[in-house]
Amino acid sequence: MQALPGFRDFLPEDCAKRSYIFMRWREVARRYGFVEWEGPPLELTELYRKKSGEEIVHQLFNFIDKGEREVALRPELTPTLARVAAAHEREFKKPLKWFSIGQFFRYEKQQRGRLREHFQLNCDIVGEADLAADIELLALCIDVLREFGFTANDFVVRISDREFWTDFLREKGVAADQWDEILQAIDKLGREPREKTAEKLGNLAEHIFATLKNGGESEKLSKILNALRVRGLADFVAIDIGIVRGLAYYTGIVFEVFDRAGKFRAIAGGGRYDNLIGQLSDGAVSLPALGFAMGDVVLGELINEAPHAREAIEQAIASDRKIDIYVVIAKEERRADALGQIQELRDRGYRIDYPLTQTKVARQFETAEDLGAHVALLYGDEWPQVKIKNMATAQQELVPHDHLLAHLQAQPSLSS
Ligand code: HAM
Repeated sequence: MQALPGFRDFLPEDCAKRSYIFMRWREVARRYGFVEWEGPPLELTELYRKKSGEEIVHQLFNFIDKGEREVALRPELTPTLARVAAAHEREFKKPLKWFSIGQFFRYEKQQRGRLREHFQLNCDIVGEADLAADIELLALCIDVLREFGFTANDFVVRISDREFWTDFLREKGVAADQWDEILQAIDKLGREPREKTAEKLGNLAEHIFATLKNGGESEKLSKILNALRVRGLADFVAIDIGIVRGLAYYTGIVFEVFDRAGKFRAIAGGGRYDNLIGQLSDGAVSLPALGFAMGDVVLGELINEAPHAREAIEQAIASDRKIDIYVVIAKEERRADALGQIQELRDRGYRIDYPLTQTKVARQFETAEDLGAHVALLYGDEWPQVKIKNMATAQQELVPHDHLLAHLQAQPSLSS
């Protein structure tokens, strides 16, 4: 039996990598003053039907639960955030700056960089309409990737403005109920044959292709570029009006992050969704909002391909895995004494391991080596003294068991 297609087993090595990614995500989000929150993994399907858009609704893992409710595993966090922000609107000072790390599920065609489950870092700002929030969010997104050692040679944030396209469609007299479909077609341009897109766009096709070729500008986009230049981040971004985002709720600035070499699908994406909270609360609460999500799958591939990023993660994993102390039980009569001290040392925060059953002393030292222990403590004939072996220098010393803790605490290489 294997894991379902598009689902991953996380063996310890994979789990360690994942934890490293989460740790870095969390660190940078906090550096920007974001606080962590979380929503449920299962929601009413209706939540996504209302506003996420056709594409994602087709990809839902949905079913009827035992209470006859139509439910879906979350494909994204934004509708949940909008629901929660509306429900708790009065409890928090605005703007809210919230981040979350969690797993999401989409029944996608499995391909490189796209699975049926993935983890995302979501960072959202709720209750701020000023462009300063869009700029802050973009800077955060860039800094999250810089944290992994990536530079402007590795990735680019492609920024656009959906208003550019909605103004265009309004000008061309296209009815508002057709906008979503057209925006979706533009969003898929790079991933679908041009003829297919042309068919979807109908008599607008030539206009749209020409507009895309000529590129576009807006006052907002120039302001963003200038503000990022001031922060020294201009090299990380490019204006690209071909970015419109597949999700239906975006209303303003939108962006997607890609590797420079163009090998992978998007690493992250987001933008402004000023109407979503109002729409989901039937107008009861109206709050501007914006955010982005970064997935772990493409990021993981990017890390694997970049030696500097990969080495950093491997080093962090190796040092995190090391234990402080391995307890060698040389005489089984001493096991109870050793366990008493192990308990005490673990209470102090030391990472300790020991053989669960009688094992040859040489094997125990091999295990101590394998686990990267800084010291080995030997419980044997020397009792009531304990032999301490420094695993790096092989130096040994005898310490009375009741002085052991003070002795270990004086050793700078032990982390507790
Ligand atoms: P999204 O572009 O659908 O945006 O997803 C964000 C990121 O999640 C993608 O750039 C990608 O890295 C990752 N991702 C999405 N689907 C998959 C998949 N099937 N397999 C692997 N990775 C995937 C959103 O989800 C928006 N809710 C983001 C947002 C937050 N907008 C505002 N706030």
